[in-house]
Amino acid sequence: MKRTHHCNELRAQHIGQQVTLMGWVHLRRDLGGLIFVDIRDREGITQAVFDPSDLSKETFDAASSLRSESVIAVTGKVRRRPGNNPTDRIPTGEIEVAVETLEVLNLAEVLPFPINDSETTLKVNEELRFQYRYLDLRRPEMINNLRLRSKIAMELRKYLDDEGFLEVETPTLFKSTPEGAREFIVPFRNTPGLFYALPQSPQQFKQILMVSGVEKYFQLARCYRDEDLRADRQPEFTQLDIEMSFIEREDIYNLMEGLLKRVWKLARNIDLPTPFPRIQFKEVMNRWGIDKPDTRFGMELTDLSDVFKSSAFKVFSGTIAEGGVVKAINAKGLAGATQGQMEDMTDIAKSMGAKGLATIKVEADKWKSPIAKFLSEEEKAALTEKLSIEQGDLILFAADKDWLTACQILGRLRLYCADLLKSQGKLTLPADQFNFLWVVDFPLLSYDPEMERWYSSHHPFTAPVAEDIPLLKTEPKKVRGQHYDIVVNGVELGGGSIRIHQPAVQKTVFEDVLKLTPDVVKSRFGYMLEAFQYGAPPHGGIALGFDRMVAMLCGCSSIRDVIAFPKTMKGTCLMTQSPGPVDERQLRDSHIAVIREEPKKTE
Ligand code: AMO
Ligand code: AMP
Repeated sequence: MKRTHHCNELRAQHIGQQVTLMGWVHLRRDLGGLIFVDIRDREGITQAVFDPSDLSKETFDAASSLRSESVIAVTGKVRRRPGNNPTDRIPTGEIEVAVETLEVLNLAEVLPFPINDSETTLKVNEELRFQYRYLDLRRPEMINNLRLRSKIAMELRKYLDDEGFLEVETPTLFKSTPEGAREFIVPFRNTPGLFYALPQSPQQFKQILMVSGVEKYFQLARCYRDEDLRADRQPEFTQLDIEMSFIEREDIYNLMEGLLKRVWKLARNIDLPTPFPRIQFKEVMNRWGIDKPDTRFGMELTDLSDVFKSSAFKVFSGTIAEGGVVKAINAKGLAGATQGQMEDMTDIAKSMGAKGLATIKVEADKWKSPIAKFLSEEEKAALTEKLSIEQGDLILFAADKDWLTACQILGRLRLYCADLLKSQGKLTLPADQFNFLWVVDFPLLSYDPEMERWYSSHHPFTAPVAEDIPLLKTEPKKVRGQHYDIVVNGVELGGGSIRIHQPAVQKTVFEDVLKLTPDVVKSRFGYMLEAFQYGAPPHGGIALGFDRMVAMLCGCSSIRDVIAFPKTMKGTCLMTQSPGPVDERQLRDSHIAVIREEPKKTE
């Protein structure tokens, strides 16, 4: 038997044709002597009817003992489905196949959980679904996610091919470059004590490819990072990785806007307006308190340092006198927040370094607030105006010596309040709204007070803004990097930068700014510095989190739903039971001795 059609193909125009369908038994119903089987394949479902008066007893018996998810082939005639055509239930609802022959290609055992109704399946313990991932993937939602993922990948390739890019694969057996996230290391039997490391991204190879003259490179690159996992983080994930020579930042913005436009049109039929806003890091922090702002709702941060400069409330005026700031947000409609919620907010503020959280609940004709008694009438009037205060509002303040800390505290509280408003039905965000923006002009360096040293905000290859280069050694804090992030709806979709291409500048960054010793620089990055001496073109690039993008387009809250075989939050694969043990001989061959922690003695 050979399959003639897939299960989402037959319509009224096929009535009378002899067809063969193959697929899985989605649902079997025995009704008044007839057996109805919904056959499902990747494309959809078609109803097959087994009528005992047309069939041998053997065939009919076989049909009546079919278990769910058995694989079958049926041949028969397409006929109009009697009664009301439930086309709304399935697109093939106008017709059915009157079965003449049945071949059972494989009888399925009783399933560990039902999969013919997603709502029921989703109630099943997630670990069980991960253990039987192949069953979970049979659900139409999951197949559709994989299908869209594939379509997007194809579209990206087409777009980049049209733009003159070469797809180049780079090694995944790389070496350790311990600047970024924790790495996965790989032993090798030929080099006792020396290890490969899996790449966190193809960053160094793609820059070397620019030195090689590739000019326009892309790759759907697998990256590995041993970090704490979350809904939008996997230990191995895919980047759309891009690098170009002889360009400026604007060229990357234009390229990516064109690409995202194409992808959003294909996947969601949405016309993204371009260009996306380009907003400086400083402004982004000032307004939203986070470097990946969700701009679908307001509740922006307001600076009140002018208002409280000479306030009787010393926490505020004192902070300002020390060169700090006082900022606030107005969470409209949250004056009714419970004691527990107010405590949560205070805990958030404190966990980020605040000494406390001053608040005002704006109730009918009165401000309920531990600080109200300190505020003058002018201050109250200025607050009312600047924050557009109305009855029912909740005002949250952050005062801090450090501008960034004050912003970040309110940034977190803003998201907490938005979640609260969402759960109370006071804030709804349309599913098809995508607010893209570029965050630009990040500080090149951040200071680690514990280690008393500067480190790269992103990675050490990011070029400083040209006019800031002289400040590298004198005022590193002021140096802006030519880094950019692309952000949508509060998610960091990707990031990149124009790179340093002069070996002297790169050396200054490594040695004078990051304080790496020449030996360390030589052993970790020597080959890069050397390559740059033989003619490195100016270049830059970007990487998009491919899984994050697909999840967003599929409307999934976790990237696990768009990865065929993801790891759990604990980093394990429950289907294959990895990571798993290796035998003594493999350890010996790899020159590895495992130190096993003694189990802790209990009292
Ligand atoms: P970055 O580290 O910002 O940049 O990574 C780029 C994008 O990759 C996605 N991403 C992840 N997705 C899933 N799971 C993870 N664990 C994970 N980590 C990161 C994010 C992120 O924005 N080489 C540079 C890019 C460059 O400069 O060109 C880089 O890797 O969406
Ligand atoms: P105190 O005078 O220290 O009791 O503080 C009065 C109010 O201001 C309390 O609600 C504190 O939580 C709050 N508060 C204290 N320090 C800060 C700060 N740095 N930023 C915002 N609010 C604060």
